[in-house]
Amino acid sequence: MSLRLGVNIDHVATLRNARGGMHPDPVNAARVAIEAGADGITAHLREDRRHIRDEDMERLQALCLKTETPLNFEMAATEEMVEIARRIRPHAVCLVPEKREERTTEGGLEVAGQHNRLVPMIQQLADSGARVSLFIEATKRQIEAAASTAAEVVEFHTGAYAHALDDGDQALADSILTQLVEGGTLAAAAGLEVHYGHGLTFDNVAPVAAISEAMELNIGHFIIGEAVFMGLGPAIAKMREIMIAAREAA
Ligand code: PXP
Repeated sequence: MSLRLGVNIDHVATLRNARGGMHPDPVNAARVAIEAGADGITAHLREDRRHIRDEDMERLQALCLKTETPLNFEMAATEEMVEIARRIRPHAVCLVPEKREERTTEGGLEVAGQHNRLVPMIQQLADSGARVSLFIEATKRQIEAAASTAAEVVEFHTGAYAHALDDGDQALADSILTQLVEGGTLAAAAGLEVHYGHGLTFDNVAPVAAISEAMELNIGHFIIGEAVFMGLGPAIAKMREIMIAAREAA
């Protein structure tokens, strides 16, 4: 399948940190995810270290190198994080907003408004060998700004689409989905690889998976939550099945 599933294991660390200690270990979750067919592992080292910690990133990269699985390191665009990413050398780095002033109204990274600050960081990360991805809204302004940097990938924020469906607002969800589709076309035409993520579930993933430009979906919270009921491996396998069926039907 040309559509990949990146599994975000952050919230295994959330559970571990609720008690302290080592259990459950997000690296074990990554191992199970890889065995269950995850095409990549995603983890967000937040500035406040609320879930994933520095040593988790190091162990995740060791596992990913050993199993030839791409590691997608999500991080804020700060000097500290750039240093860490350059040391750990993950396959990909996805720049995400953490502070209010870094985000657009909907929640994606404000690339257009912070262009001068971001361009040198993106270049440094690209020079260190990482595929740089920018987590943005699917707007022309942000896509054009992303295309003018050394980033190779954009990940479109699907949170507003997921929230609209949660609120029962199908018309709003449909209009956001149209924007996500058109953004995919625009970004691909600009030479960017297109990913989607945030808030995706068994119930809302199919229309996103059906977008022909989508190359990767990054899904975390729902899969980790569902693992409580059906196990991590089966939750990942079921998500992949839904994604494949949606793409094949499209
Ligand atoms: N993609 C990006 C860039 C993210 O920051 C996150 C985590 O917030 C996700 C995907 C996964 O989102 P979720 O945990 O809602 O599936």
